[in-house]
Amino acid sequence: MRKQIAAANWKMNLSHQEADSLLDQLLASQHHLSSNQAVILAVPAIYIPLAVQKLNGKSNIFVAAQNCHQKSNGAYTGEIAASMYASVGVHHIILGHSERREFFAESDSLLAEKTEAVLAIGSTPIFCCGEPLSIREAETQNSFVEAQLKNALFQLSADQIVKVVIAYEPIWAIGSGKTATSEQAQEIHAYIRSVFAAKYGQNIADQISILYGGSVKAANAKEIFSQPDVDGGLVGGASLIATEFAAIINALKP
Ligand code: 13P
Repeated sequence: MRKQIAAANWKMNLSHQEADSLLDQLLASQHHLSSNQAVILAVPAIYIPLAVQKLNGKSNIFVAAQNCHQKSNGAYTGEIAASMYASVGVHHIILGHSERREFFAESDSLLAEKTEAVLAIGSTPIFCCGEPLSIREAETQNSFVEAQLKNALFQLSADQIVKVVIAYEPIWAIGSGKTATSEQAQEIHAYIRSVFAAKYGQNIADQISILYGGSVKAANAKEIFSQPDVDGGLVGGASLIATEFAAIINALKP
């Protein structure tokens, strides 16, 4: 059974005091997670020690980073290596978010390097893919996303790919309030799984969690997560509101 995951991406939001308070509110909402469910909180790097300390001892709740550098160490001013995150207890790292691709010019080949760097130290990449509006309007989203996956991930072995979490986030749905319909999400998630099945076999593909991201909120999470190939969500704006994110966690499949 692949994991069902509610992942929060706080992006570049909240003061330390606000982060502290949101973590407290989330902890107070008392989630009963099954062994098949996980909650992942990708907080700004500077709040990671705070989050790790607050979530200490909570099972199936993990702190994540929003990015890392592809090298293990060196003269890269301002950057953070995957191993540094691991050394403070963070073993999940979002890679290739569309905002990093767009504003920081992250290419598929760079993301291939980052993915390997994260896997090499035994951590879990949460690899983002997804098409812009122009591609969706041209109805070529499947081949666009397939190319993102092939270019960045197909150098991985079967043992490695099962350790990667995929987040499909159509750019036109991010922060727009316009979510993909559950049918649209299911259709492309099934396609993504078929891409992995063709390369690695169905058994491997069936083990890969594929999250949906893009304007997920309490009101639509259950409908989207109920789709057979949607294994939870990567949530931006709604993850900054404790009651919203708590409801999103509760919408996960058991
Ligand atoms: P929103 O949930 O704010 O649309 O953001 C989605 C996202 O980019 C999560 O990584």
